[in-house]
Amino acid sequence: MNLRRALPAILSAAAVSADLAWKQVPNSTLEVAAHVVPLDWADASVGNATLAVIRYKSTVTPHLGSIFVNPGGPGGSGLDYVIGTGQTLSEYTGGQYHIVSWDPRGVGATKPVVKCFESAAAEKEFWRGTVPNAGLEARGNFTSQDDLDAFYAQADEVDTLLTKLEKRCSQLSGSTLAYVGTAATVRDMVSLADTIEGKKLINYWGVSYGTIIGSYFVNNSITSAEDTFAGFTQACVMAGYPSCALGNIAGPHTSPGDIATWIHQLLDNAYDYKKRGGDISSASIRDRIMGDMYNPTNWPDLATALLDMYDQIKAGKSPAAPLVRPKLRRQSNTNSTSDPDSHPEAAPDYSFQAITCADALDSGNTTTKDVFDEIVRVTREVSPLFGPTFGDAGFYCHRWGTRAVERYTGPWNRTLANPILVIGNEADPITPFASAQVVADLLGNSAVIIQQDDFGHSSLAERSNCTIAVITQYFSHGKLPIEGSMCGTNQVLFPATPITKNSLAALASAPTPISSDADELAKLRQKNQILLGMNIALCTIVLALLILLVLSILRKRKARGRSGAGAKYDSAHSAMLRKDDFEDSTHYTDTTPYDALRPRQ
Ligand SMILES: *[C@@H]1O[C@H](CO)[C@@H](O)[C@H](O)[C@H]1NC(C)=O
Ligand SMILES: *[C@@H]1O[C@H](CO)[C@@H](O)[C@H](O)[C@H]1NC(C)=O
Ligand SMILES: *[C@@H]1O[C@H](CO)[C@@H](O)[C@H](O)[C@H]1NC(C)=O
Ligand SMILES: *[C@@H]1O[C@H](CO)[C@@H](O)[C@H](O)[C@H]1NC(C)=O
Ligand SMILES: *[C@@H]1O[C@H](CO)[C@@H](O)[C@H](O)[C@H]1NC(C)=O
Ligand SMILES: *[C@@H]1O[C@H](CO)[C@@H](O)[C@H](O)[C@H]1NC(C)=O
Ligand SMILES: *[C@@H]1O[C@H](CO)[C@@H](O)[C@H](O)[C@H]1NC(C)=O
Ligand SMILES: *[C@@H]1O[C@H](CO)[C@@H](O)[C@H](O)[C@H]1NC(C)=O
Repeated sequence: MNLRRALPAILSAAAVSADLAWKQVPNSTLEVAAHVVPLDWADASVGNATLAVIRYKSTVTPHLGSIFVNPGGPGGSGLDYVIGTGQTLSEYTGGQYHIVSWDPRGVGATKPVVKCFESAAAEKEFWRGTVPNAGLEARGNFTSQDDLDAFYAQADEVDTLLTKLEKRCSQLSGSTLAYVGTAATVRDMVSLADTIEGKKLINYWGVSYGTIIGSYFVNNSITSAEDTFAGFTQACVMAGYPSCALGNIAGPHTSPGDIATWIHQLLDNAYDYKKRGGDISSASIRDRIMGDMYNPTNWPDLATALLDMYDQIKAGKSPAAPLVRPKLRRQSNTNSTSDPDSHPEAAPDYSFQAITCADALDSGNTTTKDVFDEIVRVTREVSPLFGPTFGDAGFYCHRWGTRAVERYTGPWNRTLANPILVIGNEADPITPFASAQVVADLLGNSAVIIQQDDFGHSSLAERSNCTIAVITQYFSHGKLPIEGSMCGTNQVLFPATPITKNSLAALASAPTPISSDADELAKLRQKNQILLGMNIALCTIVLALLILLVLSILRKRKARGRSGAGAKYDSAHSAMLRKDDFEDSTHYTDTTPYDALRPRQ
């Protein structure tokens, strides 16, 4: 049975019955329901929203209650998330809880949704052949005036389209735009929890998104993206050719720096190729690389794809399967749970932009040229590779007229009844560890942070048995890890030659710099292969050793200093929240600190 197809009908049935009357989804451990909340938590006369709610039922007795989860985005569908990941989240948290989520206001099967187009066809038509749809073309590193001029030449068209988009969204979504946003969504969760669990502590696990600071979101979010990329080039060299297709790009002594240089040249070639009418662009390559920085398990494929693009550009041919740039809106895994009335050609919701901008600070006189200035600055100072990537919702907010009726801007340092657990990846391309640290620092004794020694977006991107054990202990037994602990991962980056992040550490501590000593590299690579052989031959012994390893990597680590960026994004966090922390905030503008801790995808 296709769950995503079946859900709308089940939800429709649920919506007409009593509030939160759970309906079993056939042949699954899932249940869905509808929950009615006021659109405006301060003014009932405005009307109601109907939230589409889902839960993956507990599998282990005794049952302990519910854990509320949110997949990030903003604009991610909680229904899709629980359908796809509910079982995993249940296992990681010990199985004794129902895993509950919902489509937030503006999103998916919840009503109202944020609508900017009548149909998918109308949306396609709107963006067809436009600069924002194709992505910003950027050549070189903005040291040459020609490159800068060509970059800025795209600003007017972007500005015109953003203005038109805002007009459309206002026309089709009207007042809905003022009632989406994180503050209202947190209140919705409290209402859901009250109805499902009664007046108890709320258990919450969020993955990814945080708040937005004006339109300058990208500055803070991608500060570790180059580190992730460096991990890719190092792991590629370590794995070698043919495990990594780029492993011999500069001959047998290829270094990580050679691969990085080759990729920057590929971007410039793609830029020129696009100018000549080709269908590979610098933007599409940047997007592809960024997407795979989220999921290191894709790295072998990424290397092959980049080499293919190089061949296609060199041959001047059209690629067999043209590269389609992801749409401007957030790419979620929506195989449409969407609107109950939806058909395959329904227009996508624009909740990614709407929620981000509803939460955003007022943008004053910010212009699209200012946004371009920021992109140039970030490209020069933070990330040459990913700076020019266009598409973050923050880029829309200076032309998005509506802000939420309620926005939360702090304080972020409340004292909590139970400490929250903050988990950050060492090299997360979009929610850097430094930001997780800022959140934990602000909460002082009310937070415990651990670091996963890993690449990729959020601690769930790559499996870490150590992190999973921490999460299970936290939710099942209320036990916290030692502050600043470090968790290794169990994930192999290039499976053909089993390179892990730990292998890279060995590479980094090699006595001679790897770029100048290929023999050392070959030795390390060989050692790694021998280790693989041992793993296979002595697998039971190795298993025991690995368990010891996992225990030993959970070591005390010096807490890092706070970053200067002042960002409020976390990579992933878990929280056992005390109900009072919500309830004692009686002022309308003072909701809870936790909205900042909610995820960005
Ligand atoms: C549920 O599973 C049973 C047995 O596998 C099957 O006969 C039935 O068609 C399934 N129902 C749905 C709605 O998929
Ligand atoms: C909103 O929902 C509440 C509670 O279910 C109900 O009493 C109220 O009449 C609804 N308001 C509107 C405008 O439908
Ligand atoms: C930028 O590109 C120029 C020309 O290719 C090069 O000389 C310079 O080193 C580059 N600067 C940086 C910071 O990469
Ligand atoms: C959507 O559904 C199609 C067909 O069922 C499937 O091939 C595809 O992988 C799905 N995409 C996602 C993102 O789940
Ligand atoms: C926007 O520009 C106007 C006119 O130049 C100025 O009076 C106003 O203070 C500016 N607003 C902000 C927030 O900078
Ligand atoms: C929170 O921060 C504010 C402003 O820095 C400070 O005045 C206040 O004492 C802090 N509260 C706690 C509980 O740390
Ligand atoms: C991690 O956990 C999984 C599932 O329990 C197990 O199969 C795997 O062997 C574990 N890996 C290590 C290295 O312990
Ligand atoms: C942008 O990032 C840089 C480098 O991380 C940092 O120094 C700077 O303060 C940030 N600027 C803003 C506006 O956050």
